[in-house]
Amino acid sequence: MKKRMLSILLAAVCVFALAACGGDGGSSDDAKGDGKDDAKKEERQVLVMATNAEFPPYEYYEGKEVVGIDVDICKAIADELGMELEIEDMAFDSIVAAVSSGKADFGAAGMTVDPDRAEQVNFTDTYAHSSQVVIVKKGSDIATPDDLEGKGIGVQLGTTGDSFADDIEGATVERYNKGFEAVQALSQDKIDAVIIDREPAKEFIKEAEDLVILDESYTEEDYAMIVAKDNDELLEKINGALKNLKDSGKLDEIIGKYINSEE
Ligand code: ARG
Repeated sequence: MKKRMLSILLAAVCVFALAACGGDGGSSDDAKGDGKDDAKKEERQVLVMATNAEFPPYEYYEGKEVVGIDVDICKAIADELGMELEIEDMAFDSIVAAVSSGKADFGAAGMTVDPDRAEQVNFTDTYAHSSQVVIVKKGSDIATPDDLEGKGIGVQLGTTGDSFADDIEGATVERYNKGFEAVQALSQDKIDAVIIDREPAKEFIKEAEDLVILDESYTEEDYAMIVAKDNDELLEKINGALKNLKDSGKLDEIIGKYINSEE
């Protein structure tokens, strides 16, 4: 009698274990449309996004939470794919390596499409246009980007602003971990100018009445996300979701929530 109970118990344990394992890979049970999908959220596959949350309005901290244009877009993409977005905040110059090594599934960080990066990772379709601008102190003798020769220029480490500054004749490039630190250094007269993307530049000088953005931008560029070279499946999924967001107007809606184009 005892023996029989034990085997029933064992059988029950086995069935339970099997069910638990089966749930892992199979998504077939999500398709039932029985309304239980929400309750199973924690079972949704996780999509890890590498970013650097020092870049308002694209990614920045609001309390302990990372928010911004890229975050909203990527949440919408993850939703379209039935996945759960997880954000990994890291140094900007670690993002390409994190994605190419598979530590993160993809990167979204106001990242400019750039041929050097394209050797290590694949870019998705572009989703935003931007420019590199020059911030100077009011009354500075730097009136256009051409006047940057021989000057002290602050940039965020590993950004396109960094490589542009590097190419300027006679310039001394100061590299900061955060774009905002470069702007602070400019306020404190430690450097003569900052080269950085337009929207963060606007955010960073909001409180600094002594700083201005030059009318003439340094370059025009486009933002895209990055995925590992061997992950065409995810590349196609993201591009498909991005297209839907563009077609439905949701992408413009997200950008419009953060950027006032009249400014
Ligand atoms: N667009 C520039 C680049 O791709 C700067 C991006 C910085 N992004 C950030 N999240 N800190 O290099």
